[in-house]
Amino acid sequence: VVASVLELGGVKLAKDDVVRDDPTNNVPDSIFTKLGMQLHRRDHHPIGILKNAIYSYFDTTYLNKFDKFDNLCPIVSVKQKVSFLQNFDDVLVPEDHVSRSYNDTYYVDSHTVLRCHTSAHQAELLRKGHTHFLVTGDVYRRDSIDSTHYPVFHQMEGFRVFNPEDWEPSGMDDTSYAAEDLKKCLEGLARHLFGAVEMRWIDTYFPFTNPSFELEIYFQDKWLEVLGCGVTEQEILRRNGRTNNVAWAFGLGLERLAMVLFDIPDIRLFWTTDERFTSQFSKGQLGVKFKSFSKKIFLFQYPPCYKDMSFWINGSFTENNLCEVVRGIAGDLVEEVRLIDNFTNKKGRTSHCYRIAYRSMERSLTDEEINDLQWSVRDQVQTKLNVELR
Ligand code: PHE
Repeated sequence: VVASVLELGGVKLAKDDVVRDDPTNNVPDSIFTKLGMQLHRRDHHPIGILKNAIYSYFDTTYLNKFDKFDNLCPIVSVKQKVSFLQNFDDVLVPEDHVSRSYNDTYYVDSHTVLRCHTSAHQAELLRKGHTHFLVTGDVYRRDSIDSTHYPVFHQMEGFRVFNPEDWEPSGMDDTSYAAEDLKKCLEGLARHLFGAVEMRWIDTYFPFTNPSFELEIYFQDKWLEVLGCGVTEQEILRRNGRTNNVAWAFGLGLERLAMVLFDIPDIRLFWTTDERFTSQFSKGQLGVKFKSFSKKIFLFQYPPCYKDMSFWINGSFTENNLCEVVRGIAGDLVEEVRLIDNFTNKKGRTSHCYRIAYRSMERSLTDEEINDLQWSVRDQVQTKLNVELR
């Protein structure tokens, strides 16, 4: 049994505070138990080590000007009986954007979500008068299952506000000035973390920035997207008391960077309490390469076990819902859920076949335990998702 009172960012939360039987609540226990774990605040954990390394880049480059927050509550808009969701409305996400759907986001109730990005805190910090800040925290997204996706992960947000005195002497317009400063800052950060690397900027879209960019770095023969950023929409500044300013913002995924820097092959490892993992990392040691501790039967892990299941879907079926059911039963023993066949028959019924990969990060699994898991999965997929097994 987990503690029934959680202290999150100064907010005390009794688990019963959250209306668990609210029909608009789609937060399963497997997610609920992750609240308050705060891997990013552990100095000996790869996520905490990376956070500290980024802090030190900002501290030296900007002489401690950036205020740091790593303990803001991940449940946003709690008990504010307003129709404004920090996570979306505060950063101008359109009413009909997919990220608002119950399929993509965890709702505690209809006006409260588990933040899906650290951008949820931009507006509140601006209103409090902060002009240079970093926000690190756990973020939550319903998603499919594979070695680089987990429904809880960590982001760091950066935000910097400029005054007219900053850009006027340059002779540039405010937006170009901020965009150039942003790119310089993030290129410096990438070099601080990775040494000499090849990088490229990609134009993209975010509701809260314009122009918007993604930074990719070339790593092990691939271009890897490491962050999103851009010049903050004027509307966000205006609403929060910064009418005559311009600003930039970025959001980076800490797991994505840490997997590369520490050679961590699977995102579930960040959550393991196995000492053979946790003992390999220590405070201040960025980029120590992770040594696999499993039997070397396969390249780096215990063997996987695959199970296929086919069913006729209905109109409301989604892959995210399937993944949640599987994760609810198998927890971190599920490594991947992948659609391997999809067809529609003459009568217009659609069948999906999914391959589930089970694998422990810590030990070999027995056939019996995998069969038991798979039977429960089949059973619950049928009853909870209302699909017909074939
Ligand atoms: N919030 C964005 C995301 O999670 C990243 C981002 C942050 C982009 C700030 C631009 C500015 O994808």
